[in-house]
Amino acid sequence: MSHPSPIAIDGPAAAGKGTLAKKLGAYLNYACLDTGALYRGVALLVLHAQADPTDPHASLNAAQKLDIDAIDQTAIRSAEVGQAAADVAVHPEVRNCILELQRHFAANPPAGKDGAILDGRDIGTFVCPDAPVKLFVTASAEIRAHRRWLELSASDKTLKEADILAAVIARDKKDMERAIAPLRPAEDAHLLDTSDLGIESAFEAALKLIVSIGS
Ligand code: DC
Repeated sequence: MSHPSPIAIDGPAAAGKGTLAKKLGAYLNYACLDTGALYRGVALLVLHAQADPTDPHASLNAAQKLDIDAIDQTAIRSAEVGQAAADVAVHPEVRNCILELQRHFAANPPAGKDGAILDGRDIGTFVCPDAPVKLFVTASAEIRAHRRWLELSASDKTLKEADILAAVIARDKKDMERAIAPLRPAEDAHLLDTSDLGIESAFEAALKLIVSIGS
């Protein structure tokens, strides 16, 4: 049975979008694009160039040089790069530069894959407004900060959960208040609150929805 594609998964930082996307991708044989990693990749290039992520020119320059396959998947996960990613993501010229790449991926998943899943902030509202399946995955800021702390403290024991919570709240604000493609659920998105849901339950709820839309 064929399933609908692309699948758009949006939501705030550390809501569980990426884990859900990967699990659905493996089950459905869909290719996944973590669009936050693209903004993080741009941010890392800006920081490496010792430039300022709030500077639109430096950020566009980095976005034009972005090579998806060369993104350092470990380095982009730091809290510093996360904040810088929210800064570069404010610039319309950076968003435009990354837009075509995302739309191309959504329309042309790599050979051998049966569809595409994109996760981010504006996939259902802006990148793929016609996506047949849109999920908005969320969880309370405290739970998201706790998850991020568990993830990051494995490699950095000095991190404090309270600081991560403050950073999560600041990043939500930046993502929700920016003028272009702010973080918000599409009108036709299905909300999935993972505050009290484990990954298995979230996966089952999402799959049920996808199957119901595909049939
Ligand atoms: O999901 P993440 O934490 O990796 O995202 C990092 C930043 O990238 C986030 O703060 C905002 C930006 N972003 C965006 O503006 N649009 C997307 N589709 C994905 C991420």
